[in-house]
Amino acid sequence: MKYETIQVQPLTPTLGAEIHGIDLTQVLDNRQSQEVHNALLTHQVIFFRNQKISFEQHKAFGRLFGELEVHPYAPSQAGHPEVLPIHADANSKQIAGERWHSDVSCDPEPPMGSILHLHEVPPTGGDTLFASMYAAYDALSDKMKDYLEGLIAIHDGGPNYRRRAAIEGKDDQRTFPRAEHPVVRTHPQTGRKLLFVNPVFTTTVRDLPEAEGEAILKFLFDHCNQPQFQARFSWRENSVAFWDNRCVQHIAMWDYFPQTRSGNRVTVKGDKPV
Ligand code: SIN
Repeated sequence: MKYETIQVQPLTPTLGAEIHGIDLTQVLDNRQSQEVHNALLTHQVIFFRNQKISFEQHKAFGRLFGELEVHPYAPSQAGHPEVLPIHADANSKQIAGERWHSDVSCDPEPPMGSILHLHEVPPTGGDTLFASMYAAYDALSDKMKDYLEGLIAIHDGGPNYRRRAAIEGKDDQRTFPRAEHPVVRTHPQTGRKLLFVNPVFTTTVRDLPEAEGEAILKFLFDHCNQPQFQARFSWRENSVAFWDNRCVQHIAMWDYFPQTRSGNRVTVKGDKPV
């Protein structure tokens, strides 16, 4: 891929790249946003440094790639329903994203991508790990690929969001999204196949005996968790990460308690997985 307006420095051969030569406080022109989008499709998660962006600039960057969505569970920044605070400090009982997941995969149309900006980071720690679900799929045996083809999994927001509410001492009776998605999904833009199950939202596999569904999900969660599919990003103040939520999972490390780590995420709407 030849880039004219940005420089792209891959983080690992599998996924992740740092993007240089772009200022997210400015409106990107068509060529710049096309190249950022191409870098995202190629590297699955891309990173920017030294981007001191406002809520409006953050949202404007997200809107270059689609409509923004409002999170079905978490509170937003006042006056900015599409801006989700991601914050942990000495008073936190939990953090967002501390188990492997893709964002809101319980939605019938899960997000295309998420863009996280951190304005405060702990002195050490607080990394985010990303895993390529293309690489996880490619590493399966042909026999396993055949077995998984056509299987449908249930992704349910209820257990996860109610568990999170209980940690905060709340009994959350809201109805959360629940959806059925193919276990093997084809990325709508790259046409590549990938695994689309994760331990936060995927609860069962439809039309399989319960024990078999549980066993296959356990196998897939363990399989996806292998380090060769991963890249680890070390944040600095005003770093931005933009992940393609269709083909990567991520997990946030909470190894910095009682230090503060703080920022905001905007989430770009996606399509029904096929
Ligand atoms: C998230 O899951 O969106 C949070 C990721 C992070 O804080 O690194």
